[in-house]
Amino acid sequence: MSEAPVGVFDSGVGGLSVLKEIHTLLPNESLLYVADCGHIPYGEKSPGFIRQRCAVVADFFQRQGAKALVLACNTATVAGVADLRQLYPEWPIVGMEPAVKPAAAATRSGVVGVLATTGTLQSAKFAALLDRFANDVRVITQPCPGLVELIETGDLHSDALFTLLKGYIEPLLAAGCDTIILGCTHYPFLKPLLSQMLPPSISLIDTGAAVARQLQRLLTEQDLLAVGPSREPQFWTSASPEHLGKILPVLWNKSGVVRSFGL
Ligand code: DGL
Repeated sequence: MSEAPVGVFDSGVGGLSVLKEIHTLLPNESLLYVADCGHIPYGEKSPGFIRQRCAVVADFFQRQGAKALVLACNTATVAGVADLRQLYPEWPIVGMEPAVKPAAAATRSGVVGVLATTGTLQSAKFAALLDRFANDVRVITQPCPGLVELIETGDLHSDALFTLLKGYIEPLLAAGCDTIILGCTHYPFLKPLLSQMLPPSISLIDTGAAVARQLQRLLTEQDLLAVGPSREPQFWTSASPEHLGKILPVLWNKSGVVRSFGL
């Protein structure tokens, strides 16, 4: 069982930022990545629709014999992780949430910004996260419609992207944020552009590395860590495999075989 694969899932290419952390920490794991690009963006979809997509992808990973599941998507986690844990109580499932706790501990100005999808920011799970960890800080939330769609095309630098992003970070800077949470797995790909746009005193926080460590903990606890040779991930997409194949070298730094996830 320890040599069985781990399923990693996002609405699109954003979860590749998490896959990178997992592959770096756990290179012996066989990783199956599903990008539900045919249904992007989850951030503007209903929780019910996202729950259905989570169930379809989780069923696919079950049929592939996966030993664990990583929801490499904040929006899918707020909508679907509770249902999945109920459906598959024996399965180690790792979800993601915006890094409110570490940001609240790190801020010196006492003002934290959160860039995330509309779906994540409107969720009860996010409200509960703020209640739990953000009582002593001011939190400015900023939904970012349109960013995910541009990143999905492999665009990390265009003028259109710069202008859109500028409009989203300006209110955070005006409010005095010194710590900005990247609360969507697509946004870590914007770190190089953001570091050109933001003063050096601003810290960016995301949770990809923490998710990889949580997966390592769960697999270790259940004696499920793979010990075989280092392996390359396998990729599936519910949109065009050619398109994902073309942008993998940009976002994953390597090419890879991409198959069609036609469900
Ligand atoms: N990558 C996803 C997240 O972490 C959402 C992107 C989307 O809107 O589909 O929230």
